[in-house]
Parts: sequence; C-alpha cells; structure tokens
Amino acid sequence: MKVSMILNGEQVYVDSDGDALLIDVLREQIGLTGTKEGCGVGVCGACSVLVGDEPVSSCLYLAGMADGAEVWTVEGLTARDPALADVFVECEGMQCGICTPGQVVAAAALRRHHPGADDETVSRWMAGNLCRCTGYGTILEAVERYVGRD
Ligand code: FES
Ligand code: FES
Repeated sequence: MKVSMILNGEQVYVDSDGDALLIDVLREQIGLTGTKEGCGVGVCGACSVLVGDEPVSSCLYLAGMADGAEVWTVEGLTARDPALADVFVECEGMQCGICTPGQVVAAAALRRHHPGADDETVSRWMAGNLCRCTGYGTILEAVERYVGRD
C-alpha cells in the first residue's frame, strides 16, 4: 500500500506492505535509524515517535495508520530544536543510548502538552520510557530542564 505522510516537516511517500510497522518503514525503507527498537512489544518506549502531537510506539503502529498524518522522529525534533538534544548531553542523561531517542521524543511531546510541567508531571509522563542504564535521575533532570525552557 502507498503511505503518504509529512515526515519531519517534509512530504514523504512510501510503498509498504499492509502489515508493515512504522518503525520498520522509518528505519529500513526511509533510513531514519534514530528510532530504536528495544522490547518490540510496546512496553519500553524506545521506539517512540510523534504522530501528530501524540507519542506512539512505532513497534506496534502500522505504517498505514500514519497515512495522511504528520510524523516526527528524533532526527526531526532535534534538528528543529537543538536544545532538546543539548539538555540530555548537559545533564548526561544517557549511557548506552538505546532508550534516548524515545526519551527525547517523549520530552518533546511533554513540552507541547504541558509546557513548564512540574517535577511530578514530568515523572508521570516519562514513566512509559524505560532505561536500563541511568537510574533515571539524569534523564528526569534533562527533561525538567527542557520543559522549563521557553
Ligand atoms: S520497542 Fe517499542 S515499546 Fe519497546
Ligand atoms: S541509556 Fe541505556 S537503556 Fe537508557
């Protein structure tokens, strides 16, 4: 099937199987490998991308469901707003980096939905993004700093 989407601000057309997952189309057909696969079953958040303003798990999301939608990946979000990547570097909010694209996407969505979110809101919002390395303190610090910026 043909899928048409606005990807990171640009019109994109792809031919994909009807059961193709968005993560596979992004990584393998389009070559945007910033989106990572962790669990592959919708639990860890590593594969998060924005469809419209909403974070979705691209490992469960059929590419066809994105037809006609605006999709943002970590590449587009950080190109549009370098501060989003900078805070994770400044706060050392990553180690192996597998979860980081999903954390970044979630942080971008949080700032859209709850600019200036308090720490509790940040913790709740980010709870769906798992990390096996950092212990979360530095990730939350990065996100708190990002959503507090205007
Ligand atoms: S890889 Fe999609 S939620 Fe874990
Ligand atoms: S930095 Fe390794 S899983 Fe989060």
